[in-house]
Amino acid sequence: MKRLNSQLQNDGAPLELILLIRTLLAGCKEISFRVSQGALAGVLGSTLSENVQGETQKKLDVISNQILKDILSESGYVKAISSEEEDDVVGCNPDGNYLVSFDPLDGSSNTEINSLIGTIFSITHAPQWMEPNDPSAFLQPGTQMVAAGYVLYGPSTMLALTTGRGTHIYTLDKTHGGFLLTHPNVKVPEQTKEFSINASNQRHWEPSMQSYINDLLAGEEGPRGKNYNMRWVAAMVGDIHRLLCRGGIFMYPYDKRDPAKPGKLRLLYEANPMAFLMEQAGGLADTGDGRILEVMPTEIHQRVPVLIGSKEEVETCLSYKSK
Ligand code: F6P
Repeated sequence: MKRLNSQLQNDGAPLELILLIRTLLAGCKEISFRVSQGALAGVLGSTLSENVQGETQKKLDVISNQILKDILSESGYVKAISSEEEDDVVGCNPDGNYLVSFDPLDGSSNTEINSLIGTIFSITHAPQWMEPNDPSAFLQPGTQMVAAGYVLYGPSTMLALTTGRGTHIYTLDKTHGGFLLTHPNVKVPEQTKEFSINASNQRHWEPSMQSYINDLLAGEEGPRGKNYNMRWVAAMVGDIHRLLCRGGIFMYPYDKRDPAKPGKLRLLYEANPMAFLMEQAGGLADTGDGRILEVMPTEIHQRVPVLIGSKEEVETCLSYKSK
């Protein structure tokens, strides 16, 4: 089976980017180990602090953030990082050529129940003019990413990665510590009978989303003429992994509760990397008002609505807006 390094070379990734990705993944392997120790290492449970999003931080959120922050700052390749767990941009090497945004532990409430969690990341070039602590360089549309991916800490530790030449999925072989290419060039089926949404929020959705979901729930007897199944992992990384493996549509749609939070998911380190992976696998990723990758960010922790997955199903979902 092909190793990560050789696939990245095949895809034409520059050497420095390959080295950066490998450095990042060394951090993820350490997170994978800490996560697998669970209660034995005393890493479960919450801290007494909240992150900038107002969410209580889990001990593993803080540990994972520190691991990635340390390894990326020391690498020399990175000018600055932005993380879900950091209020502001963290400056690293003033001569670094890359910017990295990450959610160190997506779905961390699942740590308490030994369920799926993961690290999500995106990488862009660092502009020459940028001071390491300047957040404005992170405010680039997702189309500027040079690489994005996630590491899923499940029964196997798996990596989904794109550098813009398809989406490839690797499995960590813990016997030698390398990621092996187990699912080359994945393609998401264009049609699906599976959807993911937190239905407890239904009353806060726009009418078009309510009627789309009602039509899915109506099954064979309804306008869609087929029965749908529903799945919700409560960790985007787990739901998107299922979509890459067998298709589906995942939605965290516009929510009218708080105009300052039009969606739940964060653009830089959740929506954008998943959108890049999905598009490279033949799927679609939209906010409901346009392609996620074309959204011009206004701040590093910006949230956006997310409709992502099998091409035809996302198109159908979007068509309800104009009904
Ligand atoms: O913070 C993001 C996240 O945990 C996603 O990983 C996941 O899809 C979603 O929030 C879960 O949201 P909810 O708490 O509404 O189930």
